Amino acid sequence: MTLGLFGYGTVGESLYKLIETTPELGVTIKKVCVRYNDKKRSAPKELFTVNRDEILKDPDIDTVVELISDADAAYTIVKFAIEHGKHVVTANKKMLAAHLPELIALHKQHNVSLLYEASACGSIPIIRNLEEYYDNDKLYSIKGVVNGSTNYILTSMFEEQKSFKEALAKAQELGFAEADPSLDIEGHDAANKWCILLKHAYGIDVHPSNLTYTGIESIDEADASYATERGWVIRLVAYACALPNGKTAAFVIPAFVHKTDQLAFVRHEYNGVVMDTKFSSIQFLYGKGAGGNPTAGAVLSDISTLRYHYTYEYRKQHFSEQNSLSDDYFVQAYVRYPSSAEAPTHYFVAMNEWQNNGDTNFVKGTVHASLLPKLLQEKHYTVVLLPNAVVSSEDVKALDKVSGKIHVPTLN
Ligand SMILES: NC(=O)c1ccc[n+]([C@@H]2O[C@H](COP(=O)([O-])OP(=O)(O)OC[C@H]3O[C@@H](n4cnc5c(N)ncnc54)[C@H](OP(=O)(O)O)[C@@H]3O)[C@@H](O)[C@H]2O)c1
Repeated sequence: MTLGLFGYGTVGESLYKLIETTPELGVTIKKVCVRYNDKKRSAPKELFTVNRDEILKDPDIDTVVELISDADAAYTIVKFAIEHGKHVVTANKKMLAAHLPELIALHKQHNVSLLYEASACGSIPIIRNLEEYYDNDKLYSIKGVVNGSTNYILTSMFEEQKSFKEALAKAQELGFAEADPSLDIEGHDAANKWCILLKHAYGIDVHPSNLTYTGIESIDEADASYATERGWVIRLVAYACALPNGKTAAFVIPAFVHKTDQLAFVRHEYNGVVMDTKFSSIQFLYGKGAGGNPTAGAVLSDISTLRYHYTYEYRKQHFSEQNSLSDDYFVQAYVRYPSSAEAPTHYFVAMNEWQNNGDTNFVKGTVHASLLPKLLQEKHYTVVLLPNAVVSSEDVKALDKVSGKIHVPTLN
């Protein structure tokens, strides 16, 4: 197998070193394309180029490994490579989440593989598991901590009593958070990964702009103490489940998690995914979600599967009943608000706790999922979902024994 590698940063350099130390794979890197040719590198100078055609137009190179930080350039590179009959392995979740349906159609049309295990949850082999192991087992639900930076911040707030600002500064110092951390803390990175995983879990095509998601930027000590008093922690939870209406609920929103829940065990920069399935019941995958070696290890695993012509088949796209999203369900939510803002009571169909003492004000109760995007946009509100937050419309309607109807507020 002769590879052309794009990118020699954290992941690209680690991959180069892993391949150097695994000669039994029979893989050769013929060329590495980078952005600048004057940087000092840990590999021979003649290996590097800044001209992408030296890889893309080289007929000896059968596989392109794309590990660059620029999602737009990555899309052009990946598309060109597939159209010219090369297999592609990539870790670029932002690029994949934005273009997945088109790239899937394209790689099928050109009869090459497009593999991207490293794009979601780093070293955890979640995509291949969803594709193969959970192929014929009905997936009731899947939930995960899929962003290490936000998890590092939340863990530090709970376990080391750090403020959000201190925890973020430490995450940046340790290299877990981006220099511009908004991709992580506003939830964009987790949403990109969740769009990729929804395709393999339920066969759903969803662009991040159509996914309900938010980050952790407004979580503060008040929420942490509310959780601690109840034996909970807070995680940025990516969640999806099969609804009784035959469709799927999906979102990425901070949530209270029982200390005994598997996701509470996922601390600091680690990732974890919990699946609840008909045959296997609860299963938990846990590991390093980022970093040079763990991510490069997942890339190398994809490369090695190409030796036996592995390709994703996306069988759930055709066979899963649950292959479209629905917002016809309810969530149990806690919404904190400052005394200067209107109480968010107009979002709730039912409330079971309301504190309005000027210090920490919040409402807790049931919200229809169709209102979540608007609620999450209101920046003065902090939304944290309750453990086991999703309640089906059928269950909420059953609670109203008199009319069997519930009035979902319409908001302008
Ligand atoms: N780091 C992680 O833990 C991790 C985990 C999972 C997925 N990923 C994904 O893996 C990819 C690489 O991440 P990274 O952390 O390794 O990035 P990085 O350390 O910032 O390195 C980026 C590399 O891309 C090269 N590059 C940028 N724009 C380019 C262009 N237009 N053409 C050619 N080369 C270009 C840079 O070249 P120069 O060296 O010349 O600047 C550099 O070598 C990203 O998609 C990221 O989302 C990363």
